[in-house]
Amino acid sequence: MTIAILSALPEEQGGLVQALEAPERIEHACRSFWRGRLYGHDLVLALSGIGKVAAASTAATLAERFGVRRMLFTGVAGGVGQGVRIGDTVVASEYLQHDMDASPIFPRWEVPGHGTRLACDRQLTAILSEAANRALTTTEGSFSPESAAAPAARMHCGLMASGDRFVSTAAESQRLRGELLAAGHDVLAVEMEGAAVAQVCRDHGLPFAAVRTISDRADDSAHVDFPHFIRHVAGPRADAIVHGFLRL
Ligand code: ADE
Repeated sequence: MTIAILSALPEEQGGLVQALEAPERIEHACRSFWRGRLYGHDLVLALSGIGKVAAASTAATLAERFGVRRMLFTGVAGGVGQGVRIGDTVVASEYLQHDMDASPIFPRWEVPGHGTRLACDRQLTAILSEAANRALTTTEGSFSPESAAAPAARMHCGLMASGDRFVSTAAESQRLRGELLAAGHDVLAVEMEGAAVAQVCRDHGLPFAAVRTISDRADDSAHVDFPHFIRHVAGPRADAIVHGFLRL
């Protein structure tokens, strides 16, 4: 049963390509896909690029052409939930698209025909949460905050929101979180792909799970924190989580 491991950017994929046994590179639809084995699993690794359309296109290819039976997303996200800090890990239990708005014809945030929230696969999410928790305690996966007094990184599991925007001001982040919270959606983190992959996986009946490390707080420093974090922390953390996941 082939598992797809999808990320938007190479830094979010860590060293997984290098770790593959019997790696085979396949070029398709302007992307490189890597087929191989790891810990006895058949894998396909893919980079979608940034945004919901790129992610949906890549996920559909993985389902249609590569016949994958499970899909996993690894990457980074901006923390918007209370107590969700840089270096923390968020495993998605559900997704919504924060930029979907077909109101007044349909309720705000509802994807017509799909509802507002898309649930991730429970079993896969439980295994991923276990792996993510363990990764926080290993050397490669841990994050050393600048200040020794800073609290240790934590794991959260909950609602994640995707949209075609890099959220980079405290005002936007607070507005987005506030509006969603007022409608009962307590979002922990924002990113730009996961909800699209969740929707494609639902169409294809594929179990889907996603894990994101918090690279920034989606605030006025996000444009500084994001590149630093993605260069130094995202890869080792993704490696630790995925290796752990495949071994569980
Ligand atoms: N991915 C990581 N940080 C993000 C942010 N602030 N907004 C959207 N996607 C992100």
